[in-house]
Amino acid sequence: MKFRTVFSLIVLLMGCPTKCAVVRQYTCDNFFQSWCQLHNATVQMDTDVEASVFPRVRQLGFIYGSIGNFSHTFNNQLFKAGVLRVFARGTRVTHLTMPSTIEQLYLRDNGLRTVEIDPRARYLLRYLRLQMNKLRSIAHFDHLTQLLELNLCDNLIVDVPLDTFATMPKLRQLILCGNHIKTLGTSSANIVHLPSLTHLDLGGNFLTKLPLDRWQLPQLINLSVRDNLLTALDSGTLVRRFPLLRILDASANALDCRSYHEALQTFVNRSIVHLIDRRMCSVDDAIVLAGDGTRRTNGLQPDEGETRLEVRQLKERIFLQQRTIQQQRMEIEQLRANLTTLMEQFDLVAGPVRALDPF
Ligand SMILES: *[C@@H]1O[C@H](CO)[C@@H](O)[C@H](O)[C@H]1NC(C)=O
Ligand SMILES: *[C@@H]1O[C@H](CO)[C@@H](O)[C@H](O)[C@H]1NC(C)=O
Ligand SMILES: *[C@@H]1O[C@H](CO)[C@@H](O)[C@H](O)[C@H]1NC(C)=O
Ligand SMILES: *[C@@H]1O[C@H](CO)[C@@H](O)[C@H](O)[C@H]1NC(C)=O
Ligand SMILES: *[C@@H]1O[C@H](CO)[C@@H](O)[C@H](O)[C@H]1NC(C)=O
Repeated sequence: MKFRTVFSLIVLLMGCPTKCAVVRQYTCDNFFQSWCQLHNATVQMDTDVEASVFPRVRQLGFIYGSIGNFSHTFNNQLFKAGVLRVFARGTRVTHLTMPSTIEQLYLRDNGLRTVEIDPRARYLLRYLRLQMNKLRSIAHFDHLTQLLELNLCDNLIVDVPLDTFATMPKLRQLILCGNHIKTLGTSSANIVHLPSLTHLDLGGNFLTKLPLDRWQLPQLINLSVRDNLLTALDSGTLVRRFPLLRILDASANALDCRSYHEALQTFVNRSIVHLIDRRMCSVDDAIVLAGDGTRRTNGLQPDEGETRLEVRQLKERIFLQQRTIQQQRMEIEQLRANLTTLMEQFDLVAGPVRALDPF
């Protein structure tokens, strides 16, 4: 059996002196913003990979197709071709051996279940997105010490010990939305210091509380805890722990009235753009910030019930207006972010502040 294979290989080589029959040379189907794209490429076994030659480009993208096992052998072929940045969208990749020579890796919708990270390797990786996959664990991610951005949105992760990221002094964006996160490593009492983190997204998880006292995030600007199971929010501690905080999204949580009132006051006072759902709490005195209590005694005796109703309706309208303003401010921030992103696109190779998303 073995002999026959070797024999036919030799025959092929003899019949085709430029070894065209055994080597599979991939060529770019398309370019998108200087990313070479390969559509529907199928690379299954390590033996396939050994016989594959990838285009000599720095930025390589796979669209659909399948790379059964993103293995050492595969990584080696990428390295030989000089590839530094890889994306794979809709490409089936069930296992990923983290490549040590890649700087930017973007995997989306791959059915990815396991990631192997070698504690002895030195990883160059700066941007890592593994979105819309089936990861359950972030074991050994602490070895990715050069990361600037980590995005694990829409996976199945339950426990995220924040200590994992304490080995990443340059980490600016930590995006963990849409997982099943219940705990942030509450077993440990260590303070977690992430000196460069500006953007933390924990939205769409199952958090019941935030261990604010354990987080030291001096640069944090944008925090989302949207759509969790929080019932209390200690906004006073929040603004003390995160002195640079500018944007907070705590909507879609059932906050108690005390947290709600306190949060509105604290965030309005600090000019923090915030999204918090309205709670059905007694009277929204917190919303009308001044001159309310004093007016109530002046000549409101006749038709007191009706006046109260009118006051309530006015408050309602003020509240709605304020919410519109908040939403518009959010949108302005978003536009600003988009503008920055666009401007950075012209400077991608020089070292982007925000990685360009090629998807
Ligand atoms: C890739 O495969 C899909 C079906 O799986 C097909 O719709 C698409 O046209 C193919 N694209 C190319 C470039 O061959
Ligand atoms: C992927 O390939 C490596 C060897 O390169 C092997 O050790 C590993 O078991 C493979 N994983 C899967 C899921 O096939
Ligand atoms: C608002 O902030 C000022 C200091 O900036 C502080 O003195 C005041 O107590 C704050 N008010 C509320 C309601 O938090
Ligand atoms: C703030 O974070 C939210 C949630 O991650 C994100 O959607 C938004 O774009 C961020 N805004 C800015 C200005 O970075
Ligand atoms: C910002 O860009 C994102 C992605 O390109 C887009 O979905 C979003 O609508 C943009 N935001 C605004 C306010 O234009």
